[in-house]
Amino acid sequence: MNSINSECVLSKESEDIPPFYVMEVLESAKALEAQGRHIIHFEVGEPDFPTAPRICQAACDAISKGLTKYTHSQGLPALREAIVESYYKKFGIDLDPGQIIVTSGTSPGLLMVFMALLEKRDEVIMSNPYYACYPNFVKYLGGTPVFVYTNEANGFALEPETVRQCMSPNTKAILINSPSNPGGHVMSSENLQGIAEIAEEKGIPIVSDEIYQGLNYSGEEHTILEYTKNAFVLNGFSKIYAMTGWRLGFIISPPDCVRALQKIHQNFFICANSFVQEAGIAALNGSQEHVAEMVRVYNIRRQYMLKRLLGMGLEVRKEPTGAFYVLADARKFSSDSLELSRRILHEAGVAVTPGIDFGNGAEGYLRFSYANSLENIEEGMNRLEAFLEKELEG
Ligand SMILES: Cc1ncc(COP(=O)(O)O)c(C=O)c1O
Repeated sequence: MNSINSECVLSKESEDIPPFYVMEVLESAKALEAQGRHIIHFEVGEPDFPTAPRICQAACDAISKGLTKYTHSQGLPALREAIVESYYKKFGIDLDPGQIIVTSGTSPGLLMVFMALLEKRDEVIMSNPYYACYPNFVKYLGGTPVFVYTNEANGFALEPETVRQCMSPNTKAILINSPSNPGGHVMSSENLQGIAEIAEEKGIPIVSDEIYQGLNYSGEEHTILEYTKNAFVLNGFSKIYAMTGWRLGFIISPPDCVRALQKIHQNFFICANSFVQEAGIAALNGSQEHVAEMVRVYNIRRQYMLKRLLGMGLEVRKEPTGAFYVLADARKFSSDSLELSRRILHEAGVAVTPGIDFGNGAEGYLRFSYANSLENIEEGMNRLEAFLEKELEG
């Protein structure tokens, strides 16, 4: 194919947006695999489990029945009912289906919420380390991320006092994420309560990314809606139901902001996929035993991986009890996490995510996902241990 140089001048925002390094690590790993190398994957934040057969069947049935048209822009009423019901069952919270906007994943939901909230120079407070894409959503829309540097010993938790110190007249929202990516930590009830109180006092909303809700190994499970109604909750089916490629998520919005979000959705996305929404109904309404089984298996892997990482000198100062990540301190080996992760990939055949992907607060760290079989985790840990032993020998 001839390459054609287009004359187009791209927007500054699209030129400036950084890559999502985890995807670049994945792509490099795939390129090595294509050359015949065997790679163990700890970089991807994606369940290794298949989507449950009954959920797949619901989508096939929907297609066979011709349920392949646009749906209501806020999503199928039965799906919104099922979402409301699930929050009631888990947290005893009464929501109205009218507060739900079903989206094609949590990612478009985040974009839509920030589109609805932000004007130029508005500030969004978030922790550092953060989920890699958060500042990019904010900056793309002309806003400014304000980073709270968090402490590993406290599980990189956003704490009320530091949030208060970062407030300014331009603060438009506080962004939280629990259970968190990259740390795999669960925010305490006290911190959620304290941050909700500050937000209420200042009259600003909390944007709460709850995509890892349910992937919790400590038993303590919360939604920000237990503490304040002035919150936009983002959640979805990617992680808990192993449905990353289906692209299904939702926003729970304060009632008075729904119309703005709905108009944004209508204009830019129209609606989420119809038959995928049918699968979402099946996911929420059927037995949750497969979810409990995935959580049980993740927990075994989590404990094993933690033990091995600590054993090879990668420090983890607070036990992560949520999502499927461990963020380990590798500064003993290198302060340049990108270079270290490249060497681990090429020399040891193990793909890990460099901490720098999650902000300078995680530089020198490596993120490991245990969404992989115990057998692969064992092999990957053996390879990594051998690599690090050689490093120490110099
Ligand atoms: C914290 C966090 N939020 C949002 C997403 C995106 O999820 P979705 O697949 O629903 O777009 C991810 C994906 O890894 C994530 O880790």
